[in-house]
Amino acid sequence: MTASSSATANAFRPSAAAERMRPNAIRALAPLLSRPGLLSFAGGVPSTATFPGENLALIAERLIRDHGATVLQYGTTHGNRDLLGLVVERVRGRGLPCAGPEEVLLTSGSQQALDLVARVFLDPGEVVFVELPSYIGGLASLWAAGAELVGFRLGQAGPDLDHLEEQMAAVAAAGRRARAIYTIPTFQNPSGVTSSAEARAGLLELADRHDLLVIEDDPYGEVYFDHTKVPPPPIAALDQHGRTIYLGSFSKVLCPGLRAGWVVAPPHACRRLELAKEAADLCSSSLDHAIVAEAVATGLIDERLPSIRGFYAARCGAMLAALEKHATPGSTWTRPGGGLFIWVELPAGCDSRATLDSAVNAGVAYVPGAPFFVDGSGTNTLRLAFSREEPAAMDRGIGTLFDVLREHR
Ligand SMILES: Cc1ncc(COP(=O)(O)O)c(C=O)c1O
Repeated sequence: MTASSSATANAFRPSAAAERMRPNAIRALAPLLSRPGLLSFAGGVPSTATFPGENLALIAERLIRDHGATVLQYGTTHGNRDLLGLVVERVRGRGLPCAGPEEVLLTSGSQQALDLVARVFLDPGEVVFVELPSYIGGLASLWAAGAELVGFRLGQAGPDLDHLEEQMAAVAAAGRRARAIYTIPTFQNPSGVTSSAEARAGLLELADRHDLLVIEDDPYGEVYFDHTKVPPPPIAALDQHGRTIYLGSFSKVLCPGLRAGWVVAPPHACRRLELAKEAADLCSSSLDHAIVAEAVATGLIDERLPSIRGFYAARCGAMLAALEKHATPGSTWTRPGGGLFIWVELPAGCDSRATLDSAVNAGVAYVPGAPFFVDGSGTNTLRLAFSREEPAAMDRGIGTLFDVLREHR
């Protein structure tokens, strides 16, 4: 379709909200990172080897044949009743004091939950404190709502609470309005860092003191590697005042193609989020959520979790061993207890974006770290996803990567 731009200038003038949306810096690298034959530590997605395709095909076939009138029809905005009940049980199992389905909203993945939370609870110009580094999809939702993002540093044990407090004081001194903290306390994307119990309590205490909303994003909490080292309870489990919105997802424990996530929040907040969801999509996919409900109810997810944990633990262990062997002196990296990511900090002065093309030409891909930082820092950092490549390929891939980095120094 062609049209003269002057004739349609008004018709297609983007709204102020659309102008605020930012392209995803990682997706922009997709053509480079998806070159065939690459050893890829770039894509932050679960391994297809963990998807129970056969079981899901049988569940889907049976649901469509026996319950087609329901699963092929619109559902309620609040969500599939069975799945709501199962999510209530699941989050109670993680220590959340969830009273019932009135405190849950099912969403099309936790990404939709992030978007709804940002649209419902933030006004343009309000400040959200975010981790340095943080999840790009979460930042995108916050930016789209017009939030101003102020970063606080993340250490090996979670948020640097002194820095967070300093940032809060600076925002207050500048007369800006602080509204929320966005945190991914468990096996964080992108860093793999898990906040200690003390850091979680400290963050909540700061939120209490400043009357801020806490947006706790937890898609990786069940993907821990060692059952003797489970992560501390979620921040929402510690919250006495009901200021935390807790987001969860089935993407990493089942598969992300079935778009199933959830929000746990006080009932009044859930009702507002439900109104926003109704405007966005009326309801999530009835079929997707019915399949996920069946996968939870029949134990398919819980039975397979130990092997999924072992699968990623082996890959993470192989990547850590390769880093020990090949990393250049002065580089440091995280040692995650779960999730999909290791975070590497190269010596000061290195620029991981500048070395990406050479790495890809040499046959290995990663994600440069800078786009995960809202303050323009992180040039010398990079994210490695250990989800995709076989343990046997880690040594070669990490060896090649550090050969390239050495050549560029
Ligand atoms: C921290 C974080 N939050 C949310 C999401 C969105 O996941 P989904 O929409 O598949 O539940 C992701 C996906 O990778 C993520 O890493």
